[in-house]
Amino acid sequence: MIEFENVSKVYPGNQVAAKDINMSFERGQFIVFIGTSGSGKTTCMRMINRMIEPTNGRILIDGKDIAKMDAVELRRRIGYVIQQIGLMPHMTIYDNITMVPKLLKWDKDKQRETALRLLERVGMPESYLDRYPSELSGGQQQRIGVIRALAADQNIILMDEPFGALDPITRDSLQTLIKQMQQEMGKTVIFVTHDMDEALSLADRIAILDKGELIQFDTPDNILLNPANKFVEDFLGEDRMNQARSTTQTVDQIMYRYPVTINKNQSTLQALSKMREHRVDSIFVTDDDGVLLGVVDVFDIDQRGRHNEPLTDLMKTCVYVPENTKIRDAIYSIMKLGYRNLPVVDAEYRITGIMTRAAVVESIYNSVWNEEETAEIVVPDVVQTTPTDDSVPPELQQVLEETESQEPAADQVAVTAGGDLK
Ligand SMILES: Nc1ncnc2c1ncn2[C@@H]1O[C@H](COP(=O)(O)OP(=O)(O)OP(=O)(O)O)[C@@H](O)[C@H]1O
Ligand SMILES: [Mg+2]
Repeated sequence: MIEFENVSKVYPGNQVAAKDINMSFERGQFIVFIGTSGSGKTTCMRMINRMIEPTNGRILIDGKDIAKMDAVELRRRIGYVIQQIGLMPHMTIYDNITMVPKLLKWDKDKQRETALRLLERVGMPESYLDRYPSELSGGQQQRIGVIRALAADQNIILMDEPFGALDPITRDSLQTLIKQMQQEMGKTVIFVTHDMDEALSLADRIAILDKGELIQFDTPDNILLNPANKFVEDFLGEDRMNQARSTTQTVDQIMYRYPVTINKNQSTLQALSKMREHRVDSIFVTDDDGVLLGVVDVFDIDQRGRHNEPLTDLMKTCVYVPENTKIRDAIYSIMKLGYRNLPVVDAEYRITGIMTRAAVVESIYNSVWNEEETAEIVVPDVVQTTPTDDSVPPELQQVLEETESQEPAADQVAVTAGGDLK
C-alpha cells in the first residue's frame, strides 16, 4: 500500500507543484496520474522514489515512512520508466533489459533466463538480445522498455508518459501489453499520462491533478459518472460522459419496475385473465417468495391451457439477468440474441423488473443524442408486446371472455423475501 499524507511540494520561487495531497492505493493496482502540463504529475510520481523530496507531509509504503528509508535502496526497489522509455543506445538489448538485475547482483543464469522469458513474451527472438536499440524499430524499442521495467521484479513501477510519442496502433498494443503483464505479475503501476482515453482504459484508479491539487481520485467509472467539478467534466468531454452512462449504467437503473407476475399455484385461466388485465402477452411465474420460476405466454395457453391447467405444467424457463448487469450487456442479449425482453432478478432471484427493447432503444438514443438523462420508461404497454383485441384469434377471444368472470385474487403475487431459484 502507498499512502500520501498531506504531501506538498513547493519549488524555489514559491512554485507550488503539489498541494496537500492525500490519497492511498493498494498493492497490485494500476494507478494513473493525469492532468494538464505543469499540474504536478511528474513531481508526485518522483516523490514516491525520493527523486524529489516533499516540502511537507509524508509518503508511506506498507506503513513505513519512505523519508526514513535509504534513498538508494528505495529506488532499487521501485522500477522507473522515463518518458519515451530511454534505452541506453550504447548497450545491447540484453544489457538494457538486465540493467537493474545487474545492479541488484542477480546471478548470471537468472538474469539471462529473465531476459529470455520477457523477450519471448513480447514476441521477439533470442537473437535480438545482441542487437543495439538503433537496430530495432521504434515500437520494438518501446516493448523492450516495457519489459526492462518488469525485469528486476520490483513490485512498484513508475512510468512517466511512457507511450507519449507513439502512433495510436503501437500505443494500443503496448497498453494492452503493460496492462496484461501488470495483472499477471501483480505489480503496482503508477503511470503518468495526458491522455484521458489511455487513463480510462488502463487505470484501476485515476488521480486527476490541476495546479498541484488533487481534484479527484477514483475509479474510471465513478469519475465518468460523477465528475468532481467543471474542470473534470471539461477534461472528460461530453461525449465520453454520455457514452459512459450507457456503458457503465446497470439494468436496474433503466428497467421497468412493475413486471406482470403470477404465483405458480394459479391456473392457466387465471394467468390469462391477469394478462388481459395488464394487456400483455406473457407473464412471469414466481413462487411464494417472488422468486422467478419461468414464463407462460398466451400462445401456450391457447394451445395447451384451455382447461384451467396448473401453470407449472405449461411454464417454460426463461433467460434472466441480475440487477447489476451492465446495460451494454443487456443490449447485446436483447438486440443481438433476439430476446424480446429480459426479466431482472435480485441476489435472491426474486424478479424486480424487466428490461425491455423499448428501454434499451431509449438508452441507445440517449447516448447517441447526448441527452442529459436516460429517460425512464413509464408505459407498461411497451413492456411485453401487447396484443390488441383484434390481434387475438377468435377462439382465444372466447376463452378470454369465459375467463373474465373469474376475478383473480388480489394477493396472488408475492414479492417478499427468501427462496432459491428452482
Ligand atoms: N525543479 C523545479 N524547479 C522549479 N519549478 C519546478 C521544478 N520542477 C517542476 N517545476 C514546476 O512545478 C510544476 C509541476 O511540474 P511537473 O513536472 O510535476 O508537472 P507535470 O504535470 O509532470 O507536467 P508535464 O505534463 O508537462 O510533464 C510546474 O509548474 C513546473 O514548472
Ligand atoms: Mg511530467
